[in-house]
Amino acid sequence: MASRPRLTALRIVLALAASALLLAGSAMSSAPAQAGRPAKPAARKPALPGGVSRVVVNADLGRDIISKDIYGHFSEHLGRCVYEGYWVGTDSPIPNSAGIRMDVVEALRKIKIPVLRWPGGCFADEYHWMDGIGPRETRPSIVNTHWGGVTENNHFGTHEFFQLCELLGTEPYITGNVGSGTVREIQEWIEYISFDGRSPMADLRRKNGRDKPWVLKYFGLGNETWGCGGNMRPEFYADVYRRYATYVRNFAGNRVYKIACGANSSDYAWTETLMKEAGSRMSGLSLHYYTVPGGWSNKNKATEFAEKDWFETLKKAAFIEELVVKHATIMDRYDPAKRVGMIVDEWGTWYQVEPGTNPGFLYQQNTLRDALVAGLSLNIFNNHADRVKMANLAQTVNVLQALVLTDGAKMIVTPTYHVFDMYKVHQDATLLPVDVQCGLYKIEGDQMPALSVSASKDASGAVHVSLCNLDPKNAAPVECQLRGCAAASVTGRVLTAPDMRTHNTFDKPNAIVPAELAGIKIGSGVVSATLPPMSVVVLEIK
Ligand code: AHR
Repeated sequence: MASRPRLTALRIVLALAASALLLAGSAMSSAPAQAGRPAKPAARKPALPGGVSRVVVNADLGRDIISKDIYGHFSEHLGRCVYEGYWVGTDSPIPNSAGIRMDVVEALRKIKIPVLRWPGGCFADEYHWMDGIGPRETRPSIVNTHWGGVTENNHFGTHEFFQLCELLGTEPYITGNVGSGTVREIQEWIEYISFDGRSPMADLRRKNGRDKPWVLKYFGLGNETWGCGGNMRPEFYADVYRRYATYVRNFAGNRVYKIACGANSSDYAWTETLMKEAGSRMSGLSLHYYTVPGGWSNKNKATEFAEKDWFETLKKAAFIEELVVKHATIMDRYDPAKRVGMIVDEWGTWYQVEPGTNPGFLYQQNTLRDALVAGLSLNIFNNHADRVKMANLAQTVNVLQALVLTDGAKMIVTPTYHVFDMYKVHQDATLLPVDVQCGLYKIEGDQMPALSVSASKDASGAVHVSLCNLDPKNAAPVECQLRGCAAASVTGRVLTAPDMRTHNTFDKPNAIVPAELAGIKIGSGVVSATLPPMSVVVLEIK
């Protein structure tokens, strides 16, 4: 597991230097001219008199597509995510398809998961894929050193992962082992998965029951190679990336989108070095950022917290916009055409584990606070769709900011799940720029904008506006002005609860579910609605 505050003095100096360069402007004399728009944080203007917020939706200015992959997920061999969460085995009494539990599959299908990252995380750089193929009873057991030191029987491997992706209707994203694995292992894994002719690896795949190659679009070269994936320096990893990526071949018309391991949070020097030394050889560069209220050594509890923790959590979650903007500005210098995607392939909340559970399993509950983190983060990713091409929430089932929790045969969905359900309308829609005038959410001398907003237009012409009211005490009356489109009707869904700690349990699975938003009005191109305190709202305007 990554211990987060790990910047060395040298890297801090480099990071400061990179920040100074950012401030000096991105058009350095030696850098290529910028073609795309420079990344900018969302500007907040004050609310109108009477505390009314105004959101101008520029329906005629859409340009960028919100990649559906921003709504992606991440599942690691960690705790009860893969085992129990998806994999129950073929002889389980829990209804399953060849070992994969169908209640979880059906819940996730409903929210249209576009892409799923696997097998880690830190686990990826200790995973040797050949341990996970062939008859299950002969697969070797290994120790999952990162996550609880438990024995892993490798019953869920490559075939099972592709089967899961087929059941979910999702694109597989595999992270290869560059920390402790060899170039040959990666070369052979790609051949095993995607080669259609006769070859040692393709024949082995056939022997193991799969004739046709699979389509593999996304492949990552290592995970957190600055930490659990090998403790490398960026200069060293840039060369490791170049070497390993050479052997990620495109077989049978398959085109692999190669993702280089990116920075931990605000390590701008990492992005600078990777873009400089390897930018032209990668399709995507990742970024990891977790929202950890209380900090790594004093993490919040998931369900017992006060308003100051709520504020701290949302303020830390909102910080991801600064990260996206600053990393994107560096990427713009080396890649002005924005060819390289920013891949935020780990994000979400990280709290103390639930009492009585294995500390290495990272099992945490999920409240209305997590719903706001999800809504806020997804709005930020949408608004930077020109550079952010994928994001993967950690970690889908039973781990960290999960969508689904299981207990034996029982399954519930979390408030975060409901946000992904409400926001799925943005997938592959055209981003509409918004101008927001709103008030501030203030607490104990600190403050942040009370609203977070993004908007899009889908293929049918429907406009969707997602709004989060972060303020837990004050409702937010909003006037939404539509520029460049005629609006005849509006409906809205809201996710909220009277208490910020509200969460679903196995006894009360529907304690927090979305409802219709009452009292929305439309007239003369203006939609008026009132967002309840601490709520996530999605408006559909046609
Ligand atoms: O998501 C949990 C862990 O967080 C991942 O394994 C690792 O990449 C990160 O440190």
